[in-house]
Amino acid sequence: MADFSVKIKGFIFNLDGVIVDTAKYHYKAWLRLADEMGVEFPPEQHEQLRSLSRMESLEKILEWGGLYMTEAEKLHWADVKNNWYQGLIAHMTPDEVFKGVLPFLEEVREYGGKTALSSASRNAHTVLKSTRLDSSFDVVLDGSAARKAKPHPDCFLQAASALGLAPSECIVFDDAVLGVQAARDGGFHTVGVGKQEDLPDADLVIPGFEGLSLSDVLEMMPWTPLSMVETEG
Ligand code: G1P
Repeated sequence: MADFSVKIKGFIFNLDGVIVDTAKYHYKAWLRLADEMGVEFPPEQHEQLRSLSRMESLEKILEWGGLYMTEAEKLHWADVKNNWYQGLIAHMTPDEVFKGVLPFLEEVREYGGKTALSSASRNAHTVLKSTRLDSSFDVVLDGSAARKAKPHPDCFLQAASALGLAPSECIVFDDAVLGVQAARDGGFHTVGVGKQEDLPDADLVIPGFEGLSLSDVLEMMPWTPLSMVETEG
């Protein structure tokens, strides 16, 4: 493998929709809530909730339905949704980790890279545990960490700082427009996970990790000439 270790030392991953297919469970639980409230919620619209916190997601649904709730009602319904969601993820298994993720993480380790998981979800630890990924990352930051919401880059800046790295030394993998924007604004290299047309601002877009090696990804990145010649020590 070509030696890229001089520039990229950190790999920061979003969880839902990048590592594991929990997005479908979030959608199911939010859809149930939207139905109860008489709000239309087609699957395409769920894209807009990716990267948002639980409360921000609820507020979006209320906005779509033109509904008003007091803070206490919002807390109540956010809790109800979370109970439904937890019921759905309670039986997740390691099979639900997207194909190619484990070999990719293994390659990153062999290459000497550091890994972080940065998720807006407060359920990230539960998901990592049930899919047996709880010791797969050097750093895990979930939605309980105090930080500004995406598109502010806070969540990725905190992850890089916990890894002891500068943003320019890290690649962020995210499946959402807001996530890619946050990473770019924070000075990170970005890999969008999904469809090119949905993530036009990412440096590189991959459909997923299946069949992709770390060197494939590094070689496909549009590196600037300066970073190509940068050396360590
Ligand atoms: C939250 C939101 C969900 C959003 C997810 C992003 O998860 O509820 O809509 O898609 O973060 O990761 P929660 O903290 O409820 O698990």
